[in-house]
Amino acid sequence: MARIIGGIGTTHVPAIGKAIAEQKHDDPYWKPFFSGFTAVHKWLQTERPDVAVVFSNDHGLNFFLDKLPTFAVGAANEYRNEDEGWGIPVSRAAKGDAPLSWHLINNVVEDGFDITMCQEMLIDHAVTIPLNLMWPQGGWPPIVPVAINTVQHPLPSMARCFELGRSVGRALASYPQDLKVVVIGTGGLSHQLDGERAGFINKEFDTLCMDQLSADPEALTHYTIPQLVELAGAQGVEFLNWMAMRGALGGTVRELHRNYHIPISNTAAATLLFENRPRAERRKAA
Ligand code: DHB
Ligand code: FE
Repeated sequence: MARIIGGIGTTHVPAIGKAIAEQKHDDPYWKPFFSGFTAVHKWLQTERPDVAVVFSNDHGLNFFLDKLPTFAVGAANEYRNEDEGWGIPVSRAAKGDAPLSWHLINNVVEDGFDITMCQEMLIDHAVTIPLNLMWPQGGWPPIVPVAINTVQHPLPSMARCFELGRSVGRALASYPQDLKVVVIGTGGLSHQLDGERAGFINKEFDTLCMDQLSADPEALTHYTIPQLVELAGAQGVEFLNWMAMRGALGGTVRELHRNYHIPISNTAAATLLFENRPRAERRKAA
């Protein structure tokens, strides 16, 4: 049986890719951000997940405004990156796990999620930067990428993304192969890249989101998308990816690590590491 061992939320700002390429980890601007990954590296080295399910949003590399699926799941054995125009080097490709992808696709469709299935899919900075941050020496595990539309309105609701995560969690629990899975949500936290509120950041709301994500994620499902845009910024809606990640985890999680730093580029940069508490352990603790 596949087992979800934990969840990680992280920002995916493209400038991080340039800083990695230029080895700016100890630069005063970057150090408070990169140092937030030491605990994540230690945990990943100890836990050694076999596969990562990555909830993120595509920024125009696969899907543009003319055709934009609400939810798209990769079902390939390899996912390439391409030049996105951010001035960061094109990343290495990520391996896929097509049999696991198809298992997830079958199960979430049966659960009522009319996803788009992609036997070919590119990955953009929203996947490659988190993988590079978490596994800086390479050695990325195979991934199942799940792209959530956070770009073109109408967006899926907080509740719907949380439910998608729960459906993925149930699908993983019924996968016959013994696999240790880490679930990842990328993007956010608060940021707005354009318009009158360009540069908008909301530390108070970000803190509330991180607190509730661990303690009471269902409470966050009450925010509407217009409220989320107002409180987190037009691109802060990438928090939907974190909601899906949290949904895939069990009812109870333990927050092992948190880092929050303002700003990286135009974004409030956050890193959150959750250990998943399996049901038996929760019963024992109760
Ligand atoms: C920035 C943040 C993002 O989430 C993104 O996709 C692109 C740019 C930024 O803050 O520069
Ligand atoms: Fe983004």
